[in-house]
Amino acid sequence: MSDTALEPVRLVDYRVPAFLIDTVHLDIGLDRTQTRIVATLAIRRNPASGERGPLKLDGDSLLFVEAWLDGVPLQTRDYVALPQAFTLHHTPEGSFTLTIETRLDPSANTQLMGLYRSNSAYCTQCEAEGFRRITYFLDRPDVLSVYTTRIEASFQEAPALLANGNKIEEGVLNHGRHFAVWHDPFPKPSYLFAMVAGDLAVVRDSFVTASGRHVRLEIYVEHGKESRCTYAMDALKRSMSWDEQVFGREYDLDIFMIVAVSDFNMGAMENKGLNVFNDKYVLALPETATDQDYANIEAIIAHEYFHNWTGNRITCRDWFQLCLKEGLTVFRDQEFSADQRSRPVKRISDVKTLRSQQFSEDGGPLAHPVRPEIYNEINNFYTATVYEKGAEVVRMLKALIGDEAFGRGMDLYFERHDGEAVTIEDFIACFADVSGRDLSQFMLWYRQSGTPEIRAEGVWDESGRTYALTLSQILPPTPGQPHKQPMLFPIRLGLVGTKGDLRVRLDGEPFEGLVALTEPTQSFLFSEVGEKPVPSLLRSFSAPVKLAVDLDEEALLTLLRADSDPFNRWQAAQSYALKLLLRLVKDPTTPIDPRFVEAISGILERGGDDPAFAALSLALPSEADIAREIGSDVDPQAILGARAKLRHTLGSYLGSELLRTIETMSVDGPYSPQARDAGRRSLRNVALELACANGSKAALAVAQAQFENANNMTDEMAALNTLALSGTDAGEQALLGFRERYGSDPLVIDKWMSVQAMLPHETTLARVKELMRDSAFSLHNPNRVRALIGAFSANNQTQFNRPDGEGYSFIADIILSIDPKNPQLAARLLVAFKTWRSLEAGRRALAAAALRDIAARPGLSRDVADIVQRSLA
Ligand code: PHE
Ligand code: ZN
Repeated sequence: MSDTALEPVRLVDYRVPAFLIDTVHLDIGLDRTQTRIVATLAIRRNPASGERGPLKLDGDSLLFVEAWLDGVPLQTRDYVALPQAFTLHHTPEGSFTLTIETRLDPSANTQLMGLYRSNSAYCTQCEAEGFRRITYFLDRPDVLSVYTTRIEASFQEAPALLANGNKIEEGVLNHGRHFAVWHDPFPKPSYLFAMVAGDLAVVRDSFVTASGRHVRLEIYVEHGKESRCTYAMDALKRSMSWDEQVFGREYDLDIFMIVAVSDFNMGAMENKGLNVFNDKYVLALPETATDQDYANIEAIIAHEYFHNWTGNRITCRDWFQLCLKEGLTVFRDQEFSADQRSRPVKRISDVKTLRSQQFSEDGGPLAHPVRPEIYNEINNFYTATVYEKGAEVVRMLKALIGDEAFGRGMDLYFERHDGEAVTIEDFIACFADVSGRDLSQFMLWYRQSGTPEIRAEGVWDESGRTYALTLSQILPPTPGQPHKQPMLFPIRLGLVGTKGDLRVRLDGEPFEGLVALTEPTQSFLFSEVGEKPVPSLLRSFSAPVKLAVDLDEEALLTLLRADSDPFNRWQAAQSYALKLLLRLVKDPTTPIDPRFVEAISGILERGGDDPAFAALSLALPSEADIAREIGSDVDPQAILGARAKLRHTLGSYLGSELLRTIETMSVDGPYSPQARDAGRRSLRNVALELACANGSKAALAVAQAQFENANNMTDEMAALNTLALSGTDAGEQALLGFRERYGSDPLVIDKWMSVQAMLPHETTLARVKELMRDSAFSLHNPNRVRALIGAFSANNQTQFNRPDGEGYSFIADIILSIDPKNPQLAARLLVAFKTWRSLEAGRRALAAAALRDIAARPGLSRDVADIVQRSLA
């Protein structure tokens, strides 16, 4: 095992802070290698704490220079200043100011936490514990302070000087330097601090809030990228008015700024008034960004903006409560996107993400509750469970208490806790109070990890015209949780007859479509059921569970045709395909059910009604979906084979219909990222991929023409992908042509890298190694690493899981070489091993060996040591 000693932090050990910091004055003298930080903190003992000990501030790799107490220099015997902590032995009674000077080297900061350089700009990232890399502080979210930030820099190097809040002063100094002072009147935790400085272009706009406040909107980007901000700005304004209309939340400062940087560990960060974004989630032009990129930009701009209320005005008491802000804010951004686009289509794609990212996490060694109770490294808890499952929990709460009570509960939450750092219990109490319901069983969603399974069985009594539905819950054991308590599930359902939903009664009342499952097993007796129904369960995916219900092909076809719930129509197509695929995995000679081909043909025929929905229904379950369903002794190659065979068959039987769909779904006129056109493109491109699956020359010619003539990146990328998958010369030519066309555009070249990294061919590993030598690649930039290495390890099931183990050792080597520079990035890559235990024995042994090699390496970061140890446990 690695020598990195992990000291777990536990929720039960939470204590209120011994001291409070009311105000922070930061004086930042920027220099590429010698930045000077002087922090003046107004401190007092916390009346709510009984602790009487010395003042201990957090630090991380800090270089101490000097300190003053109430303006008087401290003597060395008064304190201990280490890189990781500053201790003041005796503190005055009442409040006092402590001033500490530190030095740091932004150019040497490769972790991208704290103050670092991205291209020619200075920027900061403080969540979760990055502020302590800038200055000594009580770096915990329950210490809220009012910040004033003075930044000084060379004018030539950094004409733009930005920080949180409103700018209150600026001026010119000697030696070509200048300064700006920013003041943020809203008390905030240190993780929301931000500062940016550099020579950046700015795009300006404005917004008037419902109450008439004028807000300046500014997006800062590299020079020359201004035209790529139009969509992000538009999305920002739509987010601002949506939050007013739907949640009654207005923006609260005079200015809202977004800065796009090209070196960033995550998607974006909600710093108060100064969001910092990974440029991938800001920049878009039709020629450089796909429809998916546009949708992501819209969602992430909204997400960060929405944090202003859910996260910033009301924040987390401690990091165990991370889902308090993240789950709720993901829920809010999902609702926003659903309102801006198609609700069913958005729901289906969110559930696809949930299943692929979260279910796989929940079913493996890294499973943890939505609110964890122990962690070794908080950076490793920015997970699909905290974010995506956290959002599902909020959605279930809304379903259980109803829209109206949910709205009142949110209002109460904002009113009761504005300006506070709170817990999940505080949040849930608001909804219990407004609805009068006991939500204690519901709280288990925050405490119990693992994906519950719901089993359903139904019996129709023809003579009594009743239908008895029995639902049971199975809660599989997960790390640290061998036994679990029964949970509460909102189950939306309907009974579907040949002509659609049946109108039935439950307990004598007209059935409204929702039942709550609270017991291990529960039966529901529906009456007035005049024909044999097919149960349509878990409509709109009303709970994040695995549903086990034995529906035969006929029943699935009934749902596909007649279910009023679009989610379950989609699910019926998926379940049907999955049944087929599982049989094909077991026996590749299984004949393909003609009724399935007919159903797909029907979807194509009606494709024009809702192209985006049809595209989702045509997409077969992914290799990872199939692997999850199989559960153990997974052979990725057999899964790929089964999928290829089904695609081949569909391509052959439906060739001319697919070509017709490609024709009719072409979009005329200039590109628009709107859902309507994007839906047509997605149907066209799913059809194109299927049409090419059997190597059809005619279809490949269409792909070739689309590659050459597309007026937008969506169609161009789709054609490139299809051509590359075909393994033909044309594919290689297209790849070369693309590289030449977009050589100077890193975000576009990232896509080109990903396409190649995901090719399910034996040569892919060699190709990836070759691409690492491409001048566009860099192991230092997280986007480049994720585009090539991350795409290979997380999305290429057969080649990462090569039977010879070369995929594992390649990724292990890369993780070890990145770890000393950027532990967060290394730890994220390591998560690719999260399903290793479900592989067949040969691969499982090789994956375990690669993990053990990593674990044995001396000097691992805490991030990597934590993931590798949990993965092997
Ligand atoms: N808080 C950010 C978000 O979800 C994510 C993030 C976490 C960014 C940690 C940087 C570091 O909006
Ligand atoms: Zn967030």
